[in-house]
Amino acid sequence: MPVIDALSFAAVEDGKLLGSIQAWPARVHDVNGSDSIILVGPVAVTPELQGRGIGKMLMTRLLETADAGAADAMVMIGDPDYYGRFFGFHADATSGWDVAGPVERHRLLARIRRPGGIRAFGQLGPDPSFATGGVAA
Ligand SMILES: CC(C)(COP(=O)(O)OP(=O)(O)OC[C@H]1O[C@@H](n2cnc3c(N)ncnc32)[C@H](O)[C@@H]1OP(=O)(O)O)[C@@H](O)C(=O)NCCC(=O)NCCS
Repeated sequence: MPVIDALSFAAVEDGKLLGSIQAWPARVHDVNGSDSIILVGPVAVTPELQGRGIGKMLMTRLLETADAGAADAMVMIGDPDYYGRFFGFHADATSGWDVAGPVERHRLLARIRRPGGIRAFGQLGPDPSFATGGVAA
């Protein structure tokens, strides 16, 4: 899948990469149709610079940009403490979704902006319509 350029950022200082975050077009679908969802990650900060707010800055920039657009939902795999405490992601919202391959369910986190904005049950996977003008962002 192509990355969502508008929601992918790099933290750079003096030409040096400090950290980055990426977003990808995904969907939750069932026999009746599908809902777009943004897959967030990886987010990473260079080890010696962790704990200085760069990760928060990258995620905040992504969330603010996404919230200004049409995106209703985001999903990621990550530490529920970090992403729940600071950014409103939680595993409850993903409990009805099937995923391909093994995943630690308590680390499969979603942030749903509008209640009912995405179906509660279905298969999570890539959104093939994005490459041809889909609406993930
Ligand atoms: C997770 C990561 C992106 C956070 O970025 P960061 O720049 O270090 O974090 P920030 O400085 O913005 O935030 C620091 C705060 O988050 C907390 N925090 C950081 N990582 C945490 C974790 N895994 N679990 C819980 N809290 C965490 C810190 O305790 C700190 O809290 P405080 O502000 O109350 O002191 C970074 O540590 C990292 O690159 N880790 C390795 C890659 C990774 O695990 N990525 C996530 C999955 S894709």
